[in-house]
Amino acid sequence: MKRVDLHAYGVPHEVAACVEVPDVGSPGALEVVFDVLAFPINPADIGFCTGNYRLRPPLPATPGAECVGRVAAVGSGVAHVKPGDLVINLQRENWAQRRRVGMDDVVPLPAGIDLKQAAMVRINPPTALLLLSDFVDLKPGEWVIQNVANSAVGRLVIMLAKRRGLRTLNVVRRESLFPELTALGADACVLDGPDLTVRAAAATHGAKIRLGLDAVSGAATGRIAACVTDEGHVVTYGSMSGEDPHVDRSHFVYRGINLGGFMLGRHMARRNATAIRAIYAELGADIQTGRLHAPIDRIYPIEEIKAAIAHAQQGSRNGKILVTPNGPL
Ligand SMILES: NC(=O)c1ccc[n+]([C@@H]2O[C@H](COP(=O)([O-])OP(=O)(O)OC[C@H]3O[C@@H](n4cnc5c(N)ncnc54)[C@H](OP(=O)(O)O)[C@@H]3O)[C@@H](O)[C@H]2O)c1
Repeated sequence: MKRVDLHAYGVPHEVAACVEVPDVGSPGALEVVFDVLAFPINPADIGFCTGNYRLRPPLPATPGAECVGRVAAVGSGVAHVKPGDLVINLQRENWAQRRRVGMDDVVPLPAGIDLKQAAMVRINPPTALLLLSDFVDLKPGEWVIQNVANSAVGRLVIMLAKRRGLRTLNVVRRESLFPELTALGADACVLDGPDLTVRAAAATHGAKIRLGLDAVSGAATGRIAACVTDEGHVVTYGSMSGEDPHVDRSHFVYRGINLGGFMLGRHMARRNATAIRAIYAELGADIQTGRLHAPIDRIYPIEEIKAAIAHAQQGSRNGKILVTPNGPL
């Protein structure tokens, strides 16, 4: 079977290669074997390839934070999924044609769900959901400000916030995105930059914004902090700039801004297995009905992983890059 291996940590499309490896074999009593139908290339996967991610396993290492699969075989002690079921895997190393994993890591998805959207359900949808719920108890009508608003997470924040009656102020670096994000449910869109506070105040008519979401980091975190009301919360959950957050201490000392960090795994770990399955059941149903979706720019076969990775690192994409290891969907 084919798998993507890193032979070193470094420039992602140079160090990743599609290689032939032995099949995963039959499942043990408490294991599930599934065929990987599709996986996206996320910023965290790029970080994994460079060696800058929090996980840096010994080489050769296989990336792949998420995927959608179809169950091929289950062990004698597995009851919650059966061959043919669609599943996501809560463990990594998913850039492969086939996976054999412990049954507790396999979460079933509704039959008939769009496979491309299902490939992206494990990480970004719950991230958007929990960013909106785990920090500030927002009431309908309140504003949230976020940067990288056109990212997959950003778009999901827009859609989920709309459903809760929240208003989103969306910060991007290209004005051409405004109509698209507005159609998605964005209440206001502004360009990032030194005078973000002025534009934010104009767009919200001076509303008090209690939650700011940041995945650019560097000076951008400080700009979000400057837009949030006194005693408000800024949550940094990514670093597309590759920098650490820079926030003037006056925001903490004089204005009482709270700066916190979010990592999906850490916030999921606060919940039990029943609660986690309930989150994915809800998100899976939303994706099945089309209420939640993320755009896809291009789909590659696993043999073209280097081109897929290079494409995923380009700015101004029109959505995610997906890979279909077992042929077109
Ligand atoms: N902490 C967690 O648990 C967690 C979970 C999921 C995701 N994340 C993070 O969330 C962020 C978004 O992930 P995603 O999968 O939604 O991303 P994505 O769909 O691949 O989109 C990437 C976004 O980053 C923007 N971008 C790229 N480089 C930038 C820069 N130097 N300055 C400003 N913006 C830049 C792009 O804007 P253009 O379109 O203008 O190029 C685009 O909006 C990432 O940082 C990711 O690591 C964190």
